[in-house]
Parts: sequence; structure tokens; C-alpha cells
Amino acid sequence: MELTPRLKLAADFCLPCEKVIDVGCDHAYLCIHLVERGAKSAVASDIRPGPLAAAKEHIAACGMADRVRAVLCPGLEAFGPEDGDTVSICGMGGEMIASILEAAPWTAAGSHKLVLQPMTNGHKLRQWLAEHGYGIEQEALAREGDRIYVVMQVFGSRTDGCGRENHYLFTEKLLADPLFGEFAQKLRLKYEKSRQGKASAGLDTSEEDGILKRLEEVSHGA
Ligand SMILES: C[S@@+](CC[C@H](N)C(=O)[O-])C[C@H]1O[C@@H](n2cnc3c(N)ncnc32)[C@H](O)[C@@H]1O
Repeated sequence: MELTPRLKLAADFCLPCEKVIDVGCDHAYLCIHLVERGAKSAVASDIRPGPLAAAKEHIAACGMADRVRAVLCPGLEAFGPEDGDTVSICGMGGEMIASILEAAPWTAAGSHKLVLQPMTNGHKLRQWLAEHGYGIEQEALAREGDRIYVVMQVFGSRTDGCGRENHYLFTEKLLADPLFGEFAQKLRLKYEKSRQGKASAGLDTSEEDGILKRLEEVSHGA
């Protein structure tokens, strides 16, 4: 199963793994790919029957029904710590990912590898992780067309930073990523626009000023 760069990076962060739970599996491509690359089994779960039906079709077409189970459920509601050693939650908003983890406190114990790929609000997810005892072990970028996606490998029971010094927009681990320059430029444009909007409305721009200052510093290696 060939994956797009975003899901391929998520798969690389999942491996090695024995049993993976993929929340919001949609097509189940990630589970199929992980089993092809050595995972013993996988659970492909989704909250909606439509995507789950597509997942079941793909699983059957790949002859993997004995190793990839499809489960209809919201978040991690149907699962406990014994159901997997690795949990992936990709392609959702950062706040949704945080709410799924919050409803499954066993993910914070440190015994599970979590692979998270927020489509939006990555900074809110990073801040939530930091405040709930999770740490980012690895973080990297993938590009698809004009978009750059962040993928994180996270563990509970950690005290490592989640990028607080960078306004939770990235950790130091991203600084050496070949796509970091482009990623930082996108952030710069976003926060310059936001700053201009606030300034013309007479609002406080200190948040944007702080972010733009930090982006300037990291671009000069500070
Ligand atoms: C944009 S797709 C991402 C699919 C795949 N994970 C990926 O990254 O390519 C989001 C999927 O998450 C599912 N989803 C959204 N909220 C969910 C939740 N709370 N629990 C489980 N699945 C959810 C949707 O039904 C949809 O299939």
C-alpha cells in the first residue's frame, strides 16, 4: 500500500509496532501499510459508517481481514491499553485529537506510542500535551502540494517540552527539518496578516509580535 508523504511519515513514526489502533482510519490505508511493514495486527476505527465500510473493502481486497479489524466507534471509546502498543490519530483538528486523548487517560501512562497529525491548531494540541504530561519524542514535516503537515511521535509520562519557548508552534526537533524554512515562512505570513488585522482594529498585537520575534530569532539560529 503506497501512502502519500503525510501518511508515510506517520507510518515511519509508528514503526516498529506490534498492534496499532488507528483512530479515524477512513480508508484504512495506514493500517494496511503498517501490517505490510511488519505490524502483527491493526485496528482500523472510525466514527462514521461510510468510511468504515470503505476500510472493510480495502482490508478485504488486500487479504488482511485476519490481521486488520475494523471497529465503528468514536475516538478510543471501544479500546483499552491492552488493545495496542501504538495509537495513531491523523488527519483531524488538534483540538479533536486532544479531546480523544483526554477521554482515554490510559494514553498518558507512557506505555503507548502515540502518532499524532493535526490538520489545524497544532499549537493548541502541543500546549494541551505539555499541560497533561505528554512529551514530543520526534516531530517532522511532510509536504503535499502547497501544504506542509506536522507529524508528532508522542509519549505520556514525559516532562520534555512541547515547544513552549516557541509559542507551542514547533519544537526544537523541527529546526533541522529540511522543510522547516518553508514551514516558518508560512507561519510568518499567517501571523503578519493576523497582526495587521488586529493593529488596524486597534487590538493588542503582543501575541503576534512575540511569535514574529521568535520566528526571526530561529531563522538566525538563536
Ligand atoms: C480527514 S479523515 C483522515 C483519515 C486518515 N486518518 C488520514 O489521515 O488520511 C478524518 C477521519 O476521522 C474520522 N473521525 C472524525 N472524528 C472522529 C472521532 N471522534 N473518532 C473517530 N473517528 C473520527 C472521520 O470520520 C474521517 O474518516
